[in-house]
Order: sequence, then C-alpha cells, then structure tokens
Amino acid sequence: MVGVWRCMLAVVLLMCLWGSSEAVGGAKSRPRPQRRPPKKPKINPIDVTPPAQNIDIQQMTGRWYLLNSASKCTYLINHGTKVEPTVINLTYSITSNQTVSVSTKTRHNHQCWEILQVYNLTPTPGRLTLKGSRPELNTDILIGETDYSSYAVMYYQKQGKITMKLYGRSADNLSEPILTKFEQLAEKQDFQLAYLFPFPTYSHCGDVDQDHIINCVPTC
Ligand SMILES: *[C@@H]1O[C@H](CO)[C@@H](O)[C@H](O)[C@H]1NC(C)=O
Ligand SMILES: *[C@@H]1O[C@H](CO)[C@@H](O)[C@H](O)[C@H]1NC(C)=O
Ligand SMILES: *[C@@H]1O[C@H](CO)[C@@H](O)[C@H](O)[C@H]1NC(C)=O
Repeated sequence: MVGVWRCMLAVVLLMCLWGSSEAVGGAKSRPRPQRRPPKKPKINPIDVTPPAQNIDIQQMTGRWYLLNSASKCTYLINHGTKVEPTVINLTYSITSNQTVSVSTKTRHNHQCWEILQVYNLTPTPGRLTLKGSRPELNTDILIGETDYSSYAVMYYQKQGKITMKLYGRSADNLSEPILTKFEQLAEKQDFQLAYLFPFPTYSHCGDVDQDHIINCVPTC
C-alpha cells in the first residue's frame, strides 16, 4: 500500500522529467507534416535524431545537474516557474546486465526525495530504454551529444512525445555557447524559447534519508 503511494509520488516528482503524455492545453497535438517518403506508418522524432557521436556510457557516469528542459508538458507550462533543483547520478558497471542505475534527487514541498531507476542499454550506443509498466509506456532515451565533462543533451520520448534535457557537470557555470547549442537543438524539435524551462542552479539536495528514497526498479 505504502509502495503504491510512493510510486504515485514518484510519478508526480518526475512529472515532465521525461516524455510527457500530455499536449499543451490538453488538446491533441497536430500531426507534423509528413516527410517524404513515409516509409513507416509513424515516424518518431527521436528515431530521426541520430546520436551526434558514438557515446561511451562509462564516461557518462556520475553527477549531472539538470539545467534546462524543453517540453510541451502541460504541467511545466503551468508551473514552469516553480521547477525544483534536480540532480541525477548515473552508475554503470559491466556486471550490471546492460543497465545504468539512475538516481534522481529533487524537492517536493521543501522535502528532498531520491528516486531510483534503471535505464537499459540498447545495441545502439547512446540509446537507452526506461521500461514502463507496459511496453507502450516505455521511455526511449537518447544521449544526443555530450563532451562528458561539462554538458550533455538528452532526449526522452514516451508515447510519441519528446522532452529534451540539458545537463551540466556543474550547477551554475554553463557557458553561453552550450546554452545556445541546446536552444538550437530544441528548435529543431519544434521547441521555441517559450517551451524551454531553466532549472534552479542552487539548493540541490545532498544526502536523502531512507524514508524519502523511492525505488522505481524495475518500474513505477
Ligand atoms: C553516485 O552513485 C554511486 C553509486 O551509488 C556512488 O558511489 C557515488 O558516490 C554517487 N556519486 C555522487 C556524485 O553522488
Ligand atoms: C542478469 O540477467 C540474468 C538473466 O536475466 C539473471 O539471471 C542475472 O541474475 C542478472 N544479473 C544481475 C547482476 O542482475
Ligand atoms: C565551472 O566551475 C568549475 C568549478 O569552479 C570549474 O572547474 C570549471 O572549469 C568551470 N567550467 C566552466 C565551463 O567555466
């Protein structure tokens, strides 16, 4: 019982942190103009976004601060000014069965929470999957580009909706060119500036006590 409640809280805490299942205003999003030739019945934007580089997952491990997000998630549109400082920690070991452990720390009502998840590696470097309770609720994750030491651009796609994230190794000294690069990549996915949500650069959670850790492995 407690477990169910905690999982629901995790969903709230992680709202919009990956692909949203809502479109702006609750309206169904308009289909994009088809690119020709339409070979597949449905083209997922993330599928046509090749990784810019060959990602070495080992170098992605460690702490990343969430700095900016591009999303059309209704929750962010309505509460975008109230986003909470968020930091993730990626752990990978060869023995972990092709998975990356992900810890996300964020605040909710002044309380720090930690959510534990696993992303499954796929045969394509830089592409991962976060399993949902049903296959159609899986989140496809793409590490679009990174220099491993200062920034990473990630794409999350769930049910056809994309969310983009800009992470930084440091919370508060993101360079202007990197931010511009993120804005340009977001624009390519149809996220104009109004859909970009900067995250706080201070007050990140440190250690979280056991009572406020939510285990979403294998799923929530
Ligand atoms: C990330 O997680 C690993 C494994 O739990 C831990 O050893 C490491 O200290 C964490 N790193 C940070 C920056 O929190
Ligand atoms: C890895 O996966 C195999 C097969 O699913 C399983 O038997 C094994 O316990 C897993 N190992 C770890 C470390 O999770
Ligand atoms: C950001 O700050 C850290 C720590 O002060 C420093 O090591 C790093 O070089 C800085 N990065 C940039 C891009 O200025």
